[in-house]
Amino acid sequence: MLFKFTEEQLMIQSMVREFSRKIVAASAAERDKTKEFPKDNFKQMGELGLMGMMVPLEYGGEGVDTISYVLALSEIAYSCASTSVVMSVQNSIVCESILKYGTEEQKQEFLAPLASGKIIGAFALTEPLAGSDPMSQTTTAVIKGDEYIINGTKRFITSGENSKVVIVTAKTDESTGHKGISAFIVPKDSPGLIVGQQEDKMGLRASDTTDLIFENCCIPSKNILGKEGDGFKIAMAGLDGGRIGIAAQSMGVAQAALDASIKYAKQRKQFGSTISKHQGIRWQIADMATQIEAGRQLIFSAASMKDRKEKYTKQASMAKLFASEMVNKVTAKAVQMHGGYGFIRDYPVERFYRDARVFTIYEGTSEIQRIVISNNILKDKRKP
Ligand code: CAA
Repeated sequence: MLFKFTEEQLMIQSMVREFSRKIVAASAAERDKTKEFPKDNFKQMGELGLMGMMVPLEYGGEGVDTISYVLALSEIAYSCASTSVVMSVQNSIVCESILKYGTEEQKQEFLAPLASGKIIGAFALTEPLAGSDPMSQTTTAVIKGDEYIINGTKRFITSGENSKVVIVTAKTDESTGHKGISAFIVPKDSPGLIVGQQEDKMGLRASDTTDLIFENCCIPSKNILGKEGDGFKIAMAGLDGGRIGIAAQSMGVAQAALDASIKYAKQRKQFGSTISKHQGIRWQIADMATQIEAGRQLIFSAASMKDRKEKYTKQASMAKLFASEMVNKVTAKAVQMHGGYGFIRDYPVERFYRDARVFTIYEGTSEIQRIVISNNILKDKRKP
């Protein structure tokens, strides 16, 4: 192992592993069927300090490093990917953006309840016609007296229903490209903010994904995050951290799929012996474990660069690209190894396979990660 974890990091990992496998795992399969949001789990996760892990203690967080966060998030993902995506969005793009760009007043008002897990946050960048290309968004925010009036529709918002506060990007100047995009902290009870219906998704079914519709939604002008025109950079910087989270989530689900496959291979008998004795299965297990290990190294490498305050955009995209592609291969192999049983809901690999499918899509598709990586290597920009 390239990384030698500290005592504190190992303690956090072991505490979250115990909680995850005892509490989170207990209802994960059922919630996949019922789509019930795990409110109680988040309450406990808040008490354990998992909802604003990298936020300093003075703002209600735990003040731990990114490595500890990756260890914790992948342990939650091991049991329930729906729970882990909410944890990921909350910790990174929501809490870290307010920590980095928020005023002292915003930190007291919004960050403290978010980081302590009292409320859930969301991040709204994507629109119906602006997914991979957020610069083409059309939501607007117009200043009027001491208020901004927001109009537009945001799509595929994680925790759109269950959040109490949402970071929203909108155009404050239509003539200046990304420099005309600003970010706002919008309480969910703001007048003119309407939650659309929940998407019926293939996976991550216990995490709600909705449209957010802004119809002359009024917020105080002091709720702008950073300055006018900072919104695109805030989103991009937030996504750098967010992508480490999605990579960590991928690692957790992949490890769960591998462990389930090993368990199955040691029990299932065909041709007179357990299938774990068959070379074809052993090679699959070796490949799955090797791919997970490679992903793990990339993730901890990106996380430690972030902790050292180095620029880590390229490494976060590499970790996200590799780990999200990897978990799709690993969960597909896990289903295959289970044969017909992998195709039915009695075995967890069926859920892992569905949950993992979106990991190469959200927080930047694999194609977008390749653009970010190549732009950073070549240092000249290519059009997507
Ligand atoms: N950090 C800070 N600033 C950054 C940055 C970063 N990582 N990346 C770019 N910027 C800045 C640049 O410096 C530039 O500013 P200047 O002009 O002042 O220098 C500005 O942003 C524009 O950058 P680019 O010209 O490189 O932008 P681009 O249009 O060529 O490419 C992109 C941008 C990489 C394609 C970007 O649009 C992108 O990442 N798209 C994917 C969007 C995405 O990931 N959406 C996910 C939705 S959120 C989600 O899924 C959350 C959820 O709920 C789970």
